[in-house]
Amino acid sequence: MFLFLVAAALVGQTAARYTANWTSLDSRPLPSWYDEAKVGIFVHWGVFSAVGFKSEWFWWHWQGQDPPDISCELYMATNYRPGFSYAEFAPKFHAQFFNPEQWADIFKASGAKYVVLTAKHHEGFTTWGSPYSWNWNSVDNGPHRDLVGDLGEAVRNRSLHYGLYNSLYEWFHPLYLADKKNQFKTQQFVADKLLPELYNMVVRYRPELIWSDGDWEAPDTYWNSTEFLAWLYNDSPVKDTVVTNDRWGAGCACKHGGYYNCEDKYTPGELPKHKWEKCTSVDSLSWGYRWNMKLSELMDLPSIIKDLVRTVALGGNYLLNVGPTPDGMIPVVFEERLRGVGAWLEINGEAIYTSKPWRVQRENTTASIWYTSKGNTVYAIITTKLSKYTVQLLEPKTSVITKVTLLGDPKPLAWSPLSPSSGLSVLLPQLPYSPGEAWTLKLEGVQ
Ligand SMILES: *[C@@H]1O[C@H](CO)[C@@H](O)[C@H](O)[C@H]1NC(C)=O
Ligand SMILES: *[C@@H]1O[C@H](CO)[C@@H](O)[C@H](O)[C@H]1NC(C)=O
Ligand SMILES: *[C@@H]1O[C@H](CO)[C@@H](O)[C@H](O)[C@H]1NC(C)=O
Ligand SMILES: *[C@@H]1O[C@H](CO)[C@@H](O)[C@H](O)[C@H]1NC(C)=O
Repeated sequence: MFLFLVAAALVGQTAARYTANWTSLDSRPLPSWYDEAKVGIFVHWGVFSAVGFKSEWFWWHWQGQDPPDISCELYMATNYRPGFSYAEFAPKFHAQFFNPEQWADIFKASGAKYVVLTAKHHEGFTTWGSPYSWNWNSVDNGPHRDLVGDLGEAVRNRSLHYGLYNSLYEWFHPLYLADKKNQFKTQQFVADKLLPELYNMVVRYRPELIWSDGDWEAPDTYWNSTEFLAWLYNDSPVKDTVVTNDRWGAGCACKHGGYYNCEDKYTPGELPKHKWEKCTSVDSLSWGYRWNMKLSELMDLPSIIKDLVRTVALGGNYLLNVGPTPDGMIPVVFEERLRGVGAWLEINGEAIYTSKPWRVQRENTTASIWYTSKGNTVYAIITTKLSKYTVQLLEPKTSVITKVTLLGDPKPLAWSPLSPSSGLSVLLPQLPYSPGEAWTLKLEGVQ
């Protein structure tokens, strides 16, 4: 501990400065809060929520891609007058029931340690009063409210970390389209819109996480990503705490930046070398709200818990998305899922928060048992209902001091070694009700 403090003091004194190149930026250690947190809530909210059809990509499917998506054209033709423009959806984004305290209570109850809100999705509408997004922001239009600021205050009041999602590109911004036409040899959009807005957002709201997106059409040199990140890490008000992802230009994903998202819903088969995050959505078909979602299209609680456990066992963080309604409600079915995750973490969180991947991540015989660890304590998380009252774990090496318990029940469990060198068989009690249908065995004194 003493050595650690000395080392920390030295690091503090010689606070590294980063240069605007990937070698330098990629060498920055990730602030520790992020890996310890493990679980976050993602919130996709914007004008697309007022459209409520198909997904947050509606505008692109309707008027961007060629040919357009027929279901979107039909939806507009059936429900809106001819000539109705996407911009006319903004006044329908009322947020009249938006109560940031209620949202923050739900997020807190989910057991998540951080919350990431869309400050600007690909449609370009900012959920804060950006001076660079004239009449296309939530203060001048729609809710007439600083959504980013109001949610941030409530979230931080509950000691949750606050992050902001920001799309680099905007599908239909005229300056972006002009730069694109010039094969990204000009940077008018970056100079006049993107960067001034991004700097302003960071200084105003001090996000501890910047979830960058919409980078893939142009190289990082077009976005001036390395220059922005050098400022963020060296001189911004969040230089010591901020965490970023890897979407900073074509080819950056899974390669450069802070932690790696790789692709949406990325699910590696084995332990990645670099810190990563799985983002996924309770509504399997959309990140934004849809009027016509069906129960069968949503992840149920056991599948969320399985996914979370697998992600954490493989060294990842789990960022679970919900799409609020345009009137500012978190659909109650999403709320129920989030509270369910929290109820499971209430009992099993010891195996999740601040854990480290173990030397083996999954039990070799059965795919349904995942390991996490904290020093000499190993957690075996059983994510399927067992038909027997014993469970065999082949990987842990036991000793005379080995003790086995079930999280949520302090009584030690009887166990016997499987072979002199490794493995044990544990006699289980009748398993208590688990909201996520997953149970954790805590193994102390094993290797
Ligand atoms: C990146 O910056 C570092 C530190 O300033 C410097 O030593 C290195 O040469 C640079 N690398 C490249 C590829 O420019
Ligand atoms: C949250 O707000 C309450 C009431 O204003 C205040 O007393 C408390 O200190 C705040 N907590 C945090 C962590 O900011
Ligand atoms: C982008 O970075 C280059 C190289 O550092 C710099 O000359 C230019 O001014 C930057 N552009 C903007 C818009 O910040
Ligand atoms: C899993 O089992 C296979 C077959 O018995 C073996 O070859 C492999 O080494 C085992 N893996 C681990 C991590 O023990």
